Amino acid sequence: MATQSTTRKSARSEGRSAPKASREQRSKRSQAVAKKSAADAQRARPQKSLSDLLEHALKDMYYAEKKIYRALPKMIRKADHPELKQALEDHRAETEGQIQTLETVFEILGKRARGEKCEAIDGIIEEGESLLEDFGDSVASDAAIIFSCQAVEHYEITRYGSIRAFAEELGLDEIRDHIDSILEQEKAADGKLNGLAEGSINDAAAEYDAADEAAA
Ligand SMILES: [Fe+2]
Ligand SMILES: [Fe+2]
Repeated sequence: MATQSTTRKSARSEGRSAPKASREQRSKRSQAVAKKSAADAQRARPQKSLSDLLEHALKDMYYAEKKIYRALPKMIRKADHPELKQALEDHRAETEGQIQTLETVFEILGKRARGEKCEAIDGIIEEGESLLEDFGDSVASDAAIIFSCQAVEHYEITRYGSIRAFAEELGLDEIRDHIDSILEQEKAADGKLNGLAEGSINDAAAEYDAADEAAA
């Protein structure tokens, strides 16, 4: 009879989806992660696994959140629409809380909170800053700010979505719940920006386009 692990392996190799891990398996994994974490401090591990990927992703996001926190004031200063200004200010305060939540998550894992340079977020923020230079004094300034900030939010949503799934798979339920709370804030921030863009800001940014059309 095939064991659970060979079933999962062969399902994967045949391109079928593997059966979901049971509560018991997830609890075993969570104990193994805690054990591995403790053993880590003493010796180098020969092989990388999902818990290593989880830790890497958390370091990535710890770096990203700090970078976002520092980048937001420039956007807030340039934002013209009062609701946009407020939304960015609110999300900066949430970002500060997210940094603390990530520190709690590192603590649960028994690790020191440490960021790891993430070129993806560096690139997204760099692009946002150069867009601000190009569009900052134009009628499309607020639309450009939302354009940049939504790229950040979507990046965060994809990363936290993966981290949440890793924690779930490893039976790290407390960490999964913390990440869930961050994920909900990112989704709400994205939704708020979407509403502002489609509600009025894109329309205001199109002002000259309409004037050009009338003059043609
Ligand atoms: Fe965030
Ligand atoms: Fe965010």
